[in-house]
Amino acid sequence: MKRIAVLTSGGDAPGMNAAIRAVVLASHYFGVQVIGYRHGFNGLLEQEYQILQSSDVNNIIQRGGTILKSARCQAFTTDEGGRQAADNLTALEIDALIIIGGDGSFRGAVHLGRFWSGKILGLPGTIDNDINGTDATIGYYTAIDTALESIDRVRDTADAFERIFLIEVMGRHAGFIGLSAAVCSGAEQVLLPELFTDNLPDLDSLAGHIQTAQKIRGKCSYIMVVSENIWPGGVMDLADQLHQRTGIDCRPVILGHVQRGGSPVSLDRILASKLGVYAVEAARTGKTGIMIGEHNQQMVEVPFQDTWNQAKALDPYLLHIQQETFDLVKNSNNP
Ligand code: F6P
Repeated sequence: MKRIAVLTSGGDAPGMNAAIRAVVLASHYFGVQVIGYRHGFNGLLEQEYQILQSSDVNNIIQRGGTILKSARCQAFTTDEGGRQAADNLTALEIDALIIIGGDGSFRGAVHLGRFWSGKILGLPGTIDNDINGTDATIGYYTAIDTALESIDRVRDTADAFERIFLIEVMGRHAGFIGLSAAVCSGAEQVLLPELFTDNLPDLDSLAGHIQTAQKIRGKCSYIMVVSENIWPGGVMDLADQLHQRTGIDCRPVILGHVQRGGSPVSLDRILASKLGVYAVEAARTGKTGIMIGEHNQQMVEVPFQDTWNQAKALDPYLLHIQQETFDLVKNSNNP
């Protein structure tokens, strides 16, 4: 194997740079040259690339974002786009392509495989953690900590004013960030997409929970973590509705893209480093069509289709303790 290419695609995630670094250092260890495509699959179509030397990955392990830039690319999803990308990879004599991204990027990987016979491997890079087959995705741990830090700050002011706060967190259609942030911040309530597949959250019971909690504890702050895309009118509307029903001040906070940025925490750097090195080793032994993940501290090779065929389940025990043991209404029988 002479030449490996790497790109980052879709929503950036803290730790993508650590993964690029691992790919570059592992490739050079084996005497393989590395090409970095810029702007995701757009770079493949436009032949926008750079040769990555070891010096290019100096001091990037601690940086959020991605030195290769990222993008979502509609043109690549057509047959013409797939053929163009394949021609460009062949022209540069690339033996293997490593794609760091989420499920959209892995669908792109499968699409490319229809036109190009080189090896294609994926690394799960998304804050959403919604990729089946790996315990965690690169960026997820940092996003939890970022959300948590903000919620802790909101708690201070919520306590001072005895207000309700609704905190919207990212995750697209998955509740991983929401559930973890809720448990870690001691949130009184959490609304996750996995809990409302057929119906909307019931406003009367949400308001009832707030009022009962206020009665049990006396007037106090109340934090509700809300995953994005659950409530049709968004958290602003939900806050209005709950204010009308409870008569208590209710403020929405949308954390948004702050969750995508920042220096990756140690767990993301470790995960990215392991996955990046393993991907290079796997490519050298001829592996293709797989995402590299980690499950129970073992490196795993997951066929791309299996990463999205089945929705990844939330940790049921974490959900149980948030909804039962830590629910201050259900847990109101203090002896
Ligand atoms: O997939 C990562 C993610 O940040 C999601 O959590 C969010 O729904 C989406 O990307 C936002 O996308 P954009 O940056 O294009 O607004």
